[in-house]
Amino acid sequence: MNDRMLCWKLSEIIKLSLENTMRSGRAHEIVGEGQLGGTTHYLDKVAENAVIDYITKHELPVEFVSEEIGRLNFGNEYTIYLDPIDGSNNALSGLPFYCTSIALFRKEKQYGLVRNLVWDEWFEGISYYGSLLNGKPLKQQLHSQMISVYTKKGRYIDELRQSYNKMRCLGSVALELCYVAKGSLLALVDIRDKVRTTDIAAGKVVLENVGGVITDLNGEILDMDAEHMNIVAACNPKIHKKIINILKE
Ligand code: IPD
Ligand code: CA
Repeated sequence: MNDRMLCWKLSEIIKLSLENTMRSGRAHEIVGEGQLGGTTHYLDKVAENAVIDYITKHELPVEFVSEEIGRLNFGNEYTIYLDPIDGSNNALSGLPFYCTSIALFRKEKQYGLVRNLVWDEWFEGISYYGSLLNGKPLKQQLHSQMISVYTKKGRYIDELRQSYNKMRCLGSVALELCYVAKGSLLALVDIRDKVRTTDIAAGKVVLENVGGVITDLNGEILDMDAEHMNIVAACNPKIHKKIINILKE
C-alpha cells in the first residue's frame, strides 16, 4: 500500500470509530490528559487506539506521533503525525466543523491528508506535486475577506482589525489551514503558544503546496520539533508579509 492509500485507510478507521463512539453515548467522557497537552475525551482515545491497533497488526515500521499518546516507535522508515480528531469540542457540542489530520513524512517527501469528518471533503498536500481537494487540483479562490484569529487576552485583535475586520475562530486549526489553502480564509493566526505539530503537520503540507505560507510570529520557519508554537499562515506571501508586519508594530 502506498503512503497515500495508507493515510486514507487510517482516515477510514478514524471515521468509523467516531461514528461508533458518537452512537455509544460515551463520546464526551474525559479519559485523561493528552501527552501533547489538552483534554482527552473518549472519542479521541478510541479513534487513536483504533489506528494503533492497525499499525500493530500490520507491523508498520513507523515512528508514530499522535496527540493523545505522544510518540511511539514502531520503526524508523517514516513518521506519521496524527491528530485523530481536530475539533473534538466542536464534535462533542454538535458544531459541524471537525476533521482528522494525518501527515506522513518519509525522508524529504511529505504527504498530508485533512479529511473533513462532517461532509465528504478531503484535502491532500503532496510535496513536489501540489495540493488536491477531493482528488482534483486545489485552486485558490480569493473572494474572502476573513481571517481566523486565536489569541490570548485580545492581544493584536485591534491591530489586525484595522486591516481585516471580519474575524473568525472556527475550532479546528487543521481544517482552517486547508480553508486558508483554498482561499476561503485569507489567513490563520494562532498566537496562544499552544499549537502542536500534530495539529498542523498535514494542513501545512496542503497549504505550502498550493503557494501559501506558514511561519512563526517573526516570519521564520516553524520549528516542528517544538512542543508548542505560534503560527501565522496565509493563502499567499503578500498577505503573509502584511500580517507579519502588523504583528511587529
Ligand atoms: C483543537 C483545535 C482548536 C484549537 C485548540 C485545539 P483538538 O484541537 O485545533 O482549533 O483552538 O487549541 O486543541 O483538541 O480538537 O484536537
Ligand atoms: Ca485532537
